[in-house]
Amino acid sequence: MNVLKELIREHTHILQGIQYLEMARSALENNLSPPAAFFHTAALFFSNYADQLHHFKEEYLLFSLLAAKKGGKIDLEMGALRHQHELNRRSIKKIKSSLNGYEADNEISTTALLEGLAAYISILKRHINREDQFFFPMAESELSDSEKELLHTRFLEEASGSNTKQLIAGNLDRLKEMKKLISNFYSHHDLEN
Ligand SMILES: [Fe+2]
Ligand SMILES: [Fe+2]
Repeated sequence: MNVLKELIREHTHILQGIQYLEMARSALENNLSPPAAFFHTAALFFSNYADQLHHFKEEYLLFSLLAAKKGGKIDLEMGALRHQHELNRRSIKKIKSSLNGYEADNEISTTALLEGLAAYISILKRHINREDQFFFPMAESELSDSEKELLHTRFLEEASGSNTKQLIAGNLDRLKEMKKLISNFYSHHDLEN
């Protein structure tokens, strides 16, 4: 397993989830109301898979190893990426806290939901592009072979835990559930993807 390739592979699942969020956002913009269950499932997927699993690996395994390099460019970029992780956590919180009101058809809560979604989608897409195209290639060239080996070992330790395996399987199921809920909604409202 190449560690950086593994992180990029996780991005494809996250981007899949973002695609469903974009469908939901578009429906909200058109004054339609996708089922609250979709947003509950999405909030769990993004907080557990994107944040707890993926961002954890980046921040505590990869960034901490790179921090020892103390390269100006790397430090600045890591600070920006951490900041984006933090903004994303806040957007997910906003989305979660809007859902009770959304279910009660409260327009202010629906606006908060839309605000949280729009910020989350937009920042996360830029973030993933930056990591894939710029930060990971930079990390690849900065890390020595022995550091890559160490990182690889830490990733394997992390991946082998039964909690992690369960977390991944459960969240890939959530991704399927999100697809089902939003696709059904679209077909009932005669909407195009
Ligand atoms: Fe990240
Ligand atoms: Fe990432």
